[in-house]
Amino acid sequence: MTFAEQLSADLAVIEPALEKYLSRETGEGYDRIFEAAKYSAMAGGKRLRPVIVLEFCRLCGGDVQKALPFACALEMIHTYSLIHDDLPCMDNDDLRRGRPTCHKAFDEATAVLAGDGLLTAAFETAAAAEGVSAETALACIRILGQAAGMNGMIGGQVLDMGAEHRKISLDELRLLQSLKTGCLLRAACELGCTVAGKTDAHTLDMARTYGDKLGLAFQIRDDMLDIDGDTATLGKTVGKDEKSEKSTFPSLLGMEECRRLVASLTDEAVQAVSGQPESAFLVELARSLTNRTN
Ligand code: IPE
Ligand code: IPE
Ligand code: MG
Ligand code: MG
Ligand code: MG
Repeated sequence: MTFAEQLSADLAVIEPALEKYLSRETGEGYDRIFEAAKYSAMAGGKRLRPVIVLEFCRLCGGDVQKALPFACALEMIHTYSLIHDDLPCMDNDDLRRGRPTCHKAFDEATAVLAGDGLLTAAFETAAAAEGVSAETALACIRILGQAAGMNGMIGGQVLDMGAEHRKISLDELRLLQSLKTGCLLRAACELGCTVAGKTDAHTLDMARTYGDKLGLAFQIRDDMLDIDGDTATLGKTVGKDEKSEKSTFPSLLGMEECRRLVASLTDEAVQAVSGQPESAFLVELARSLTNRTN
């Protein structure tokens, strides 16, 4: 299978699974919350994190079907982080995944609750995973909790909010990025290995290195797209970082240095997995993200 074929095959299992996990309407008068959660979750995100979960599971010789609940749980957490990231009290964005943001399409209270609902559903989905041992499920739940939590993505968002309207050092920016974006991407790699039962130090180190390097390259590219991207293609409003006086990689290093860094970090991500048999997809995936336009 080519890279493109494999990617569409992964998306073809992720999309319906995600939709199924979020379709528990009850008719009891609060179904609007399912509507809001699905509005944001089923809006055509790239699904990078769940794809990575499935592909690390495949790389480690595991059963990809068994990784699906954890892949969807991670995408739910990611979507919740975006809904809250867009709120007026945070980045105050009107456009996400090419649609009005959740709080614009519904209202702020519903958007807060849809985020809360997705975060909670993620853990329910992971805990209900079938075909894996309780020990494996617990290990995966722990990875999800750590990555999403206060020492992970949330901590990074706290640093991000505190870095508005002032110039921070490159070390501070790296820490901020590695928490807010790196943690969920690293978790994706670790989850795939864990479901496949390959949790020796060498494998986890390889997976974490790929996640770290790819995560940093991904956020640098995200910051660059806020400057030279196109709102319609990107699906979110460009120019927001400068307007909010955010500390970003281009603001500290300039675009040229960012381009160079994305290329070298991608090389390092590729190098981490290239000793593995069947690493072609993950190599292609990393390379395909260097020039992404959305
Ligand atoms: C956006 O993530 C937020 C960042 C961590 C930079 P993605 O670019 O993966 O967003 P979707 O899921 O494709 O919408
Ligand atoms: C968001 O970073 C990262 C998380 C949601 C955790 P950004 O604020 O740069 O993401 P975008 O640009 O709004 O997607
Ligand atoms: Mg933000
Ligand atoms: Mg934002
Ligand atoms: Mg951004």
